Amino acid sequence: MRIVVGVGGGIAAYKACALVRRFTETGHQVRVIPTESALQFVGKATFEALSGQPVSTSVFTDVPEVPHVRIGQEADLVVIAPATADLMARAAQGRADDLLTATLLTARCPVLFAPAMHTEMWEHPATVANVATLRAHGATVMEPASGRLTGTDTGPGRLPEPEEIFGLASLLLERPDALPRDLEGRRVIITAGGTREPLDPVRFLGNRSSGKQGYALARVAAQRGASVTLIAGNTVELAPPAAVDLVHITTAEQLATAVDKHAVGADAVIMAAAVADFRPTNVAAAKIKKGANEPDVIPLTKNPDILAGLVTARTEGRLGDTAIVGFAAETGDENGDVLTHARAKLARKGCDLLVVNAVGEGKAFEVDTNDGWLLGADGTESALDHGSKALLASRVLDALIPLLH
Ligand code: PMT
Repeated sequence: MRIVVGVGGGIAAYKACALVRRFTETGHQVRVIPTESALQFVGKATFEALSGQPVSTSVFTDVPEVPHVRIGQEADLVVIAPATADLMARAAQGRADDLLTATLLTARCPVLFAPAMHTEMWEHPATVANVATLRAHGATVMEPASGRLTGTDTGPGRLPEPEEIFGLASLLLERPDALPRDLEGRRVIITAGGTREPLDPVRFLGNRSSGKQGYALARVAAQRGASVTLIAGNTVELAPPAAVDLVHITTAEQLATAVDKHAVGADAVIMAAAVADFRPTNVAAAKIKKGANEPDVIPLTKNPDILAGLVTARTEGRLGDTAIVGFAAETGDENGDVLTHARAKLARKGCDLLVVNAVGEGKAFEVDTNDGWLLGADGTESALDHGSKALLASRVLDALIPLLH
């Protein structure tokens, strides 16, 4: 695909280098268009070497090729990172006073802005209005990350990590309408990863969940405007999604406590975590040794069913009108196929929507892609096509919208 990476003049311009590299390594053709001020931070030669393409800021370079029109027309995706307050103001006004803004006017493909600026600039009414204008024009403007800014101050306005920008850009290539702002004003609780149930100081009962599906849900929900709390168990090393409150837990009981605390009054809870159904009844204070005293049997105690508990709390009026979405990691067996088991699980748990993943070697757990089915409490069933976990997340959120009160 043909990707244009526009680079604004901010200190985060150096992170555009990693983004360009990520696109070229995954086989995309990248054209970098910096602003003049971006070149104060990163030299033209760096962008030329990383993209393998000439770099210019001006509409007067290579004039017979008409680059100010052609690059935008031919692009499959334009990503602006970092998008400074000034660059977004010029883009919102429809200015065309350099090659990048001219390209933005001629692009008919998805356009993704990844803002980076100080908190005061991000929150200024002028920037807020420019962001709204860009969104109204069809562009996706990411929520920035919170954290350390240039200097010693911290707050919202930090450029999301290149990997996160790459992930959302890839989602827009898979599905250009994946990121509408239809969750603005909504509070969504999402669980991710696997729980670990300790047996002794060394060992635990765990599972293969990497957290990738739950993190993708949190990332996509936040970029669709939701206020997201992500309750994460054990995961592989995953960067925290931008603009998401992250709560870490280890065991199923801790997950139950965290869900109880955050779910009350939420618009939706999505349980993507793989929760251990049982825990060792006794946790040994010292490592269990081989030998004469080694146990023949390890007694297990049932963990609370958090999803079913949420449904009970809602029925008893302790939760609110919260929409409740479960996930099911299923295999077929002699008693039925994946969907037969999943339908029974939906009836047992009583949630509004069940996302069904068939699991097995290289499927659902740990990998970057997923597919499955969506079962509704109203009896509706639909297939979720194979694609990135962000794509599946976007489809699940589409199905959630009509369930929100
Ligand atoms: O993390 P990844 O590597 O990206 O993999 C994603 C995934 C396969 C883990 C995810 O897509 C998924 O399917 N998550 C649910 C896994 C699971 O625990 O399924 P289950 O069939 O055991 O549980 C059904 C539902 O009940 C789940 O929503 C689970 O969160 C919930 N549950 C289960 C047990 C329990 N004691 N309390 C619960 O709330």
